[in-house]
Amino acid sequence: MIRLEVPLGSRSYPVVVGASALDEFQSLIPSGVSRIAFVTQRGIGISLESELPSSVHFLPDGEEAKKLSVVEDLCSAFAGDGLTRKDLVVGIGGGVVTDVAGFAASVYHRGIQVLHAPTTLLGQIDAAIGGKTGVNIPEGKNLIGAFWQPSGVICDTDVLKSLPEREFRSGMGELAKYHFLGGEGLDELPLDERVAACIQIKADIVAADEREGDSRALLNYGHTLAHALEIEGRFDLRHGEAVAIGIQYAALVAHALGRIDKARLSEHERVLDVYDLPRSLPEGCDVDQLMELFGRDKKAMTGLTFVLDGPEGLSVVPGVPENTLRDVLTQM
Ligand code: GLY
Repeated sequence: MIRLEVPLGSRSYPVVVGASALDEFQSLIPSGVSRIAFVTQRGIGISLESELPSSVHFLPDGEEAKKLSVVEDLCSAFAGDGLTRKDLVVGIGGGVVTDVAGFAASVYHRGIQVLHAPTTLLGQIDAAIGGKTGVNIPEGKNLIGAFWQPSGVICDTDVLKSLPEREFRSGMGELAKYHFLGGEGLDELPLDERVAACIQIKADIVAADEREGDSRALLNYGHTLAHALEIEGRFDLRHGEAVAIGIQYAALVAHALGRIDKARLSEHERVLDVYDLPRSLPEGCDVDQLMELFGRDKKAMTGLTFVLDGPEGLSVVPGVPENTLRDVLTQM
C-alpha cells in the first residue's frame, strides 16, 4: 500500500493507493464520527461496510447528478438521517459523485467531513484530490462549488480493473498531462505507482496554491480546447480524450510560438500515443466557434490565455495571438 499526504497544515489528509486499498476504510474514519452517509450511483456497484449507523444515497446517473437540486435533495436526506456536524459523508464513485458529495458536505451544517473513494482513474488521479467540488448550471460547468478538502482519499487500484476500456483510457488523458508537470517516465511505472506519482504531483501543486490563484491553473494543461470541444457538444468525446486533443493542440501552439522545439513536440506525441489517445480534432469542427469558446474560458482575463509548455516547463500564458491559435486549429 502506498500512503501519501496532501500537505495543507491542519487540513492535511492521507491518500491511500493500491490493490485492496478499500480495506483501509475503517482506519480512515475520523475520530468522533457517529454516523456515516454513503453517496454513490447505482451503476458503481461498490459498497463499504462500517459498524457505525449508516445510510446509502444514490445520485442520478451521469452528469445529470451535478445539479443544485440534487445537492438540496441530498442535504434533506442527510437531515432525515440525523447527520450532525461531527459526522461523515463518504463519496464512492467517479468525479461526478465526489464533486456532488463533496459540495453537499461543504454546505450541509456549513461544512461536515467527507472522505472520497474514487472508482475511476480520472477520479483517483484528479477529481477526488485537491478539494474542488461543485455542480453545473446552464451557463457553465462547475460554476457553483466550493474548495472543500476531504479528510482522506482511498484509491483502490483493483476497482480500475473492471472499468470499461474507454473510461479507463479517458483517465489516461488526464494522466498524460502529468508527464509535462514533472512526471517524465510515468509510463514505465506499474499502475499503483503511476496513480500515486500523479497524486503526489497534484498534492504538491495544491499545497502551493490551494485556491488556484496561480500555479494550480497548470493542472488545466490541455483543458482550454478540451472544454471548448465539450461545450460545443456535438462530438462523442470523453473528458480525457478531449484533454488529449487539447494537449496536442497546446504543444503545437507552443511550437508555433517558438516556445518548444521539435523534439519536445515529438515527446508530446509520443506520450499521447503510448496511452492510445486521440491527437486530431474530431471531424466537422468549426474553427470560428472554437475561437469564440476560447474567449469564454475562465482563464481568459487578459486576452486568450493558455497553459503552454516552454523552456521552463508549463506556464500560464496570457495574450496568446489569435492568428496563431486559429492557424494551428486549421492545420490540425
Ligand atoms: N482538476 C484540476 C484541479 O483540481 O485543479
